[in-house]
Amino acid sequence: MDETQRFITDNKQRFLDELLELLRIPSVSADPAYNQDVLNTAEKVAEFLNAAGADNVEVCETSGYPVVYGEKIIDPSLPTVLVYGHYDVQPADPMELWESGPFDPVIKKTEIHPEGAIFARGAADDKGQFFMHVKAFEAMNKSGELPCNIKFMIEGEEEVGSSSLGEFVRNNKEKLKNDIILISDTEIISNDQPSISVGLRGLSYVEVEVKGADLDMHSGVYGGAVPNPINVLSRMIAKLHDDDGRITIPGFYDEVEDLSAEDRAEMAKIPFDLEGYKKSIGIADIQGEKGYSTIERASIRPTLDVNGIWGGYTGKGAKTVIASHAYAKISMRLVPNQDPEKITQLFADYFPTLAPSSVEVIVKPHHGGHGYVLPTSDQGFQAAKKAMTHTFGKEALATRGGGSIPIVALFEKELGSKSVLMGFGLNSDVIHSPNENFGLFNFYKGIETIPYFFQYYTEG
Ligand code: BES
Ligand code: MN
Ligand code: MN
Repeated sequence: MDETQRFITDNKQRFLDELLELLRIPSVSADPAYNQDVLNTAEKVAEFLNAAGADNVEVCETSGYPVVYGEKIIDPSLPTVLVYGHYDVQPADPMELWESGPFDPVIKKTEIHPEGAIFARGAADDKGQFFMHVKAFEAMNKSGELPCNIKFMIEGEEEVGSSSLGEFVRNNKEKLKNDIILISDTEIISNDQPSISVGLRGLSYVEVEVKGADLDMHSGVYGGAVPNPINVLSRMIAKLHDDDGRITIPGFYDEVEDLSAEDRAEMAKIPFDLEGYKKSIGIADIQGEKGYSTIERASIRPTLDVNGIWGGYTGKGAKTVIASHAYAKISMRLVPNQDPEKITQLFADYFPTLAPSSVEVIVKPHHGGHGYVLPTSDQGFQAAKKAMTHTFGKEALATRGGGSIPIVALFEKELGSKSVLMGFGLNSDVIHSPNENFGLFNFYKGIETIPYFFQYYTEG
């Protein structure tokens, strides 16, 4: 891979400039106001794939946003790596907390990134990360060192649950056929400690509504005598956890796998600085399920969290009113074996039983997805570990990630393929938050490492 590495070194600045171009298009999939920008981003990704030397580049229509496809088949008898990523991003708000425009990328030095980091929505999740693959491919292709076949599938609806992707994958099994899927959309422990995610959590997401009276009422005239949906909803939510931080929904833990003492001992070896963790997010103390470490709570244990809650008067000053409605959005992060549909049903059956007879409760399911685990014996994991260990000069560890990428379980079900989660982000990239950023070190380390994955995977 010497020629490839030389090509990368010679083209560093151009690679960065191109990424910034991609980051300037606000491809927010959740907000219809950005519809045209999302479509333009797909076209731009296709342009970059073409320029990198991919064949049969196509912006494939789906029932939602398009999937960008491209490939280079050098020899059908060689293995095929499918690179997956997403060009859509999370909404930028709250806008006022950004130090620079979310779609106006700037490079700034930080304590963690003395050589600079790219500040923009999507810098780490996932434009900066999938773009490393486009550039690594370009480098291997142009230097004649691409060791096997490659396919790209870059989608535009990951941040809203990849709802049209199931159909797309089912309809394009031959096109997407591969030996291994490679994804950079997760994080490493630190820039001194490489790691590969061997697990993702699943997700069940619901919205709930509590309805009291037919109208908003004076809180003096009616207060004390009628149901207050906000009070009721708060009590209902409070009952979803017990004093040990366990979720009270009957049957919720039925399928949760208990890790062996050995596996837990292995996890306990992952370096973790509790004080630094608290400080980095500004909390006085941690909180969670009794009997588990912070790393375990955030990866191998299921959760239930309110993501948003509203109702009543939230404007300036005080308004004395009892609202007729209260709402909340609730996410449950699931572990492998927990079925999102079943969990959503358990929630929908249980939650209304927590309400008094004075209110009406409506539960509306949103998207969901299965969790995932990759055995460390997998050839793809081994190749990723070898590649990262080589370029970081330190042995890469296996970690279980807390986030979700629902397509990963779907790939396994529909294509029978395993996914390797070789991400290069850091927790401090604050993906989904204001001032999302991606270290230049991480961007370039990714481009440097990916070709070795291809080499080691092909060598077997
Ligand atoms: N890249 C993240 C997922 C992720 C982040 C996994 C960090 C592991 C570590 C992805 O873009 C994401 O945000 N996924 C959503 C899924 C949802 C919208 C279905 C999530 O996890 O909330
Ligand atoms: Mn992502
Ligand atoms: Mn995301």
